[in-house]
Amino acid sequence: MTPTPDYKLGTYEFPRGWFMIGDAGKLGSKGPETLHYFGQEMVFYRGASGKPHLVEAYCPHMGAHLAKNTTSYVVRDGEQVQGESIRCPFHGWRFGPDGKCDDIPYSPNFIPKAACLKTFPVAERAGIVWMWHDPEGQQPDQDLPAFAPWDKENEGWVRWLIDDYGTLPVHAVEIVDNMADFGHMGPIHGSLHNQYFDNIFDGHKVIQRFDAGHRTLASDASSTLALDTWYEGPSILQSDMRGAFPSLMLLAHTPVGKGMTRIWHALMVKMPSLEAARTDLETARMYQRASRDAVAQDVEIWANKAPSVNPMQIPADGPYGKVRLWYSQFYNPRDKAAAIQKRVQGQVVTFGEPRPVEDAA
Ligand code: FES
Ligand SMILES: [Fe+2]
Repeated sequence: MTPTPDYKLGTYEFPRGWFMIGDAGKLGSKGPETLHYFGQEMVFYRGASGKPHLVEAYCPHMGAHLAKNTTSYVVRDGEQVQGESIRCPFHGWRFGPDGKCDDIPYSPNFIPKAACLKTFPVAERAGIVWMWHDPEGQQPDQDLPAFAPWDKENEGWVRWLIDDYGTLPVHAVEIVDNMADFGHMGPIHGSLHNQYFDNIFDGHKVIQRFDAGHRTLASDASSTLALDTWYEGPSILQSDMRGAFPSLMLLAHTPVGKGMTRIWHALMVKMPSLEAARTDLETARMYQRASRDAVAQDVEIWANKAPSVNPMQIPADGPYGKVRLWYSQFYNPRDKAAAIQKRVQGQVVTFGEPRPVEDAA
């Protein structure tokens, strides 16, 4: 597993940003659940209100795991989650959603100030649970994307289901490389008659605009699939796809450990009419499967490749170096991000006549 220092991305092993941690419909539905991301063990639980909470897994008292227990009477008696708090199965210390210990059953008058669990910012949006990871332990300085079609069912949008590709032995930088990867579009994805490919670097966003024919997602081989694909932060890729159907694709990836990355896919589809969105769900699902299978073509490469610490870039390739430099802003102290952004800001056209930057979504 190739760690971050090999790629010379920066100071931190894991980046700063919002990251997917699971499917909101499934996560924590059976009580507190163990998650392992960023090389650490965490516990996800929902309070009595249904609100999601994410805390470090090990109790500050004597190190018991808060979720890996089935035999303690705290668990058997259903006292693990009370209100928005979580109780340790070992000696029953209870911690509030801010991480502070709020009850020690056998010590009503003394709770040590240091009895505090580390908590992580967590949010639920578009059917997904997200966490904010920050090596400096600060609050988010980026917004979670809006995923606007999620709230446009009345305009014929069909919400996505989550496809889980599992955890791959690949550093996330090699996934982000895709933003610059013009050369793989034909061989991997079956793109035909390329028309345009550029990248726009804009703060914590990077955009790729790509127009070509496509063997699976355009309506037929002669028509065009126009893609505006962008990252907001280090791990959330969306693609506005105008093929057989308008659709919004999500690719989310989260570091599990050094050089290990979990990847999910999802796709929302705009059906031609409200009626079709209600009655012809299968067509939307089929389109999601076609998109899932297109990304699976990348996934198969990622799952089996050797690390590419220094891509052997040729002039016809897209700007790998710039994409990696853009990506490095998330691996360095927050106060260095602006300087890194400034170094890459702007447009790189790899194929076709330059188009105005302002036309990008
Ligand atoms: S180890 Fe958690 S209460 Fe003692
Ligand atoms: Fe790809």
